[in-house]
Amino acid sequence: MSPLTPPLKDLILVVTGGSGSIGSAVCRAATRDGAKVAFTYHEGEERAHTLAAELGEGCLFQQVEGTDAAAISAFVQRVETELGPISVLVNNVGLSQVMPFALIDEDDWDQTISVNLKSLFLFTKAVVRGMIRRKHGVILNLGSLAGHRLLEVPVHYATAKAGVRGFTLSLAKELSRYGIRVNEITPGLIQGGIGASASERQLADYNQFCAMGRPGTPEEVAELAVFLASSRASYLNAQSFVIDGGL
Ligand SMILES: NC(=O)c1ccc[n+]([C@@H]2O[C@H](COP(=O)([O-])OP(=O)(O)OC[C@H]3O[C@@H](n4cnc5c(N)ncnc54)[C@H](OP(=O)(O)O)[C@@H]3O)[C@@H](O)[C@H]2O)c1
Repeated sequence: MSPLTPPLKDLILVVTGGSGSIGSAVCRAATRDGAKVAFTYHEGEERAHTLAAELGEGCLFQQVEGTDAAAISAFVQRVETELGPISVLVNNVGLSQVMPFALIDEDDWDQTISVNLKSLFLFTKAVVRGMIRRKHGVILNLGSLAGHRLLEVPVHYATAKAGVRGFTLSLAKELSRYGIRVNEITPGLIQGGIGASASERQLADYNQFCAMGRPGTPEEVAELAVFLASSRASYLNAQSFVIDGGL
């Protein structure tokens, strides 16, 4: 590959929850780096249309509920028919609720676990057979420091994000033999999106303990994602890449 060739040239990259804060930054960076991008949205129809217009011709987007197996399967089929075989899946859909443990009821628990973890399972399952057949693919899962460290975060969210770690490890072990790399991106506090629910006190604490003294930006997470998606990261597998400014 010439040094002038865009690093994701000719790759078809799917971002789940591309309408969100980190997801849209990943879509922009991947498009800049030469990928054809497909993304999903849920409630953010207007944001999705604005992003698609920005990404330009050739991008595909669709409303998909992250726990609906049939809708996910139909979306993946559409991407493969209209754009081509999927090379990279960025599992980014996520949901949190600011809630003390004593107030979490069964529905809250089920929804948080389901949107964060079932979506990971369903989207991955929908793309993985094609990747296995082609003996090529990259899967990136958005975890969180909440699943790794002692932090003041909602318990159901932390539980779901801890699950992303186990999912990444066992899937990487199983799929490596087919030339598929699986990694976790593990952000600390990132501006916007889910990070916007941090209280002023939590933000001040984060800034105090973070060596860089600030939250990250979605664009900084996106740069890590496009690097991991590219062949420049060909020996990076089964890892959790913490991006937290040094905590
Ligand atoms: N921001 C942070 O500080 C931070 C830190 C660590 C990890 N993360 C992780 O990074 C990922 C992106 O987070 P973000 O901060 O960018 O949050 P965000 O802006 O709220 O994005 C979340 C995305 O998930 C989609 N989504 C939510 N519920 C859904 C459902 N039921 N079905 C399908 N899609 C659904 C949203 O779609 P619509 O907007 O269209 O409804 C949106 O595209 C998440 O996995 C999150 O856990 C974020």
